[in-house]
Amino acid sequence: MAVVSTSLTGAGSQLSGHFSGLRKSFLKLDNSNFNSTQSFFQNVDSHLRLSSSRKGCRAVVTMAGSGKFFVGGNWKCNGTKDSISKLVSDLNSATLESDVDVVVAPPFVYLDQVKNSLTDRIEIAAQNCWTGKGGAFTGEISVEQLKDLGCKWVVLGHSERRHIIGETDQFIGTKAAYALSQNLGVIACIGELLEEREAGKTFDVCFQHMKAFADAVPSWDNIVIAYEPVWAIGTGKVATPEQAQEVHVAVRDWLSKNVSAEVASKTRIIYGGSVNGGNCAELAKQEDIDGFLVGGASLKGPEFATIINSATFKKVAA
Ligand code: PGA
Repeated sequence: MAVVSTSLTGAGSQLSGHFSGLRKSFLKLDNSNFNSTQSFFQNVDSHLRLSSSRKGCRAVVTMAGSGKFFVGGNWKCNGTKDSISKLVSDLNSATLESDVDVVVAPPFVYLDQVKNSLTDRIEIAAQNCWTGKGGAFTGEISVEQLKDLGCKWVVLGHSERRHIIGETDQFIGTKAAYALSQNLGVIACIGELLEEREAGKTFDVCFQHMKAFADAVPSWDNIVIAYEPVWAIGTGKVATPEQAQEVHVAVRDWLSKNVSAEVASKTRIIYGGSVNGGNCAELAKQEDIDGFLVGGASLKGPEFATIINSATFKKVAA
């Protein structure tokens, strides 16, 4: 029951009109659908398509998906050789929960330094890659080169690349397909701008981003989805656990309807946008939040470790 009540907190909040930016018809949770508290609970429960009861073997009850908790640190265009060496040493000495996949994405120029000094417990991601094989593409970095340095992942579709650099859905999809074809995992970012949320287009935008990935990729086996509302990135304005959960449920449901129930269950959907050591626990408790993509707070080793270890909030209370 703990799981259901966690989810109901979020869904119930919709009823109050608190999350006015979303297209409420998605979950059909307007008041007219509920004649009693009981029918409300039944209706919400029917939308929790991937309930925890399906995972009897896991010591985890608050994950709708069946994938391992995943935490990525996106260092963006930050750091120097010295500051990165300190960050790596803090990460190497941190105690990290074993049941979590951990990845960091240093700037390209420090990938080799990080790969050579960071514990193997943490995998390395790139923040971008080229659309195909390398060659005469000045300033680009190929997937093959990233693999040569030991990268296992690449972040694609980040809002800073969509909205500052101008990358399109199609361009991002091409990169994702190529990276996957070379066995590089993709952290596929989606998320709406503030004006899109305020215009009630959050789901439309997220689904459009999802479709662009789905149209391009042959398989979802090596993809982690990062829902990152643009208004929450680097602003200190984190989405509430209910706001994040609401979109994660919708994205998982989109996967279920448009790809398959199996992919919807297996694919990690992580949240990004002002996650820090203070707010990660409440976010982690949400059923459809399978981890985090962390920017600013991932530049501080101990705080990043706290965020990684928030996976413990997924576990059954003894
Ligand atoms: P933030 O960045 O944690 O600094 O908001 C998140 C991201 O851009 O991935």
